Order: sequence, then C-alpha cells, then structure tokens
Amino acid sequence: MGIFLDSANPDDVRRAQELGFVKAVTTNPTLIARSGRSGLDVLSELVELFDGHVFYQVTADTVEKRFDQAWEAHRIRPDRVIIKVPATTQNLAMTARLVAAGIECAVTAVASPAQAYLAAQVEASFVAPYISRLTQHVGGSLDVVRDIARLLENTQTEILAASIKSVDEAVAVMLAGAQHVTLPLELIMAMGEHELSQQAIEEFHAQHHGE
Ligand code: G3P
Repeated sequence: MGIFLDSANPDDVRRAQELGFVKAVTTNPTLIARSGRSGLDVLSELVELFDGHVFYQVTADTVEKRFDQAWEAHRIRPDRVIIKVPATTQNLAMTARLVAAGIECAVTAVASPAQAYLAAQVEASFVAPYISRLTQHVGGSLDVVRDIARLLENTQTEILAASIKSVDEAVAVMLAGAQHVTLPLELIMAMGEHELSQQAIEEFHAQHHGE
C-alpha cells in the first residue's frame, strides 16, 4: 500500500518529503499548468525535492510527439520518473513501445476494466482509475476497482486510484483492491487526524498538567 501526493506544487512536494511516509508524487497537466512553468522545468525541480518516484504525463497532440515527450521526461531522472499515459488504444500501443525500451509507465484516466486489462497486457507498472469521475458518471466506482483488481491478479500492474475527494473514498478504494492512492496534500494531512483522537489527546494533556 502506498500514499502518493497528487500535486505539482513544490511547497506541497517539500512537505510530502518531510512527512516521510509519502511514497511518490503524481502530477498531471492541470496541476502543472497552475505553476505557469514548463512541464519539464517543474519535473526537474520536483525530482530534486523528493526522493521517490515522480509521475509525469505526456500531452502532445500526436503519438510520435508524445513518445518523444516521454523520452525527454525519462531522461531527466531515468530511475525515478514514471511516464503517465492517458488510456486510449493508440496510447496503450505507445506504452508497449516505451516499456520495451525500459521506461516505466502508468496508464492514467482509466475508466473501465477493459482499459486496465490492456494496460497490464502492455506491462504498465500502474493503472490509475479516476474514482470521483467514475462515481459522478457511472455510479459504482468501487465495483470498477474490484473488477480491475480481479483482472490484474497475477500481473505486475498495480492499481493507483486517483481523482479522490475524501479520506473515506481513499480507504474504500484501498479496501476494494487499489494498492495505492494519490491524494492532494490536504487529504493526506486529514488521514492522520480524527476528532476522537484529538479529544483523547486533550484529556491526557489536561490530566498530565493537573498532576
Ligand atoms: O492526478 C490525477 C487525478 O487525481 C486528477 O483528479 O480531480 O482532475 O479528477 P481530478
């Protein structure tokens, strides 16, 4: 199981590094656009700030350009950059080429078990189902995750659930079979907190200082 940070913000990434239990950082084009900087520039900074894997999504408008983009990002830090490839049939074929060349890939924006099955066939390291989008448009995101988990049994492809909007949703997808979840910093921080824990801490504190 791994908690990943879903952010391209250097301050968030620094914080995730300090927390120590965040296993990886995922970025996407929307998150990178918020920085107003080029994707590769942001990626170069994030791999310096964070010790683990950093995910970077290809965006160019043709397969060949996306293939070249993947290589450019990979070269920044070959051992720690994972290329995110949005799920389409063409991109799955491109993923097979990247994997054959030794580039680690994650198939992202996954909306169906069929796409996840093909991602495993092309030996992607991760598939990223978009949970809240599935909940909004299909209804049963957890059933999709359960089906993906069954299809990916005995493969090297792991489920990285993304587009998660609450701590309860993060726990539910892990129980449904996702090995990892990627979350914004505020949800990661919220995972370690509970009002009952806080209440107990305050009681202990009051007793300690009353002694
Ligand atoms: O980084 C991928 C994913 O978490 C994006 O989520 O909110 O755009 O559906 P969202």
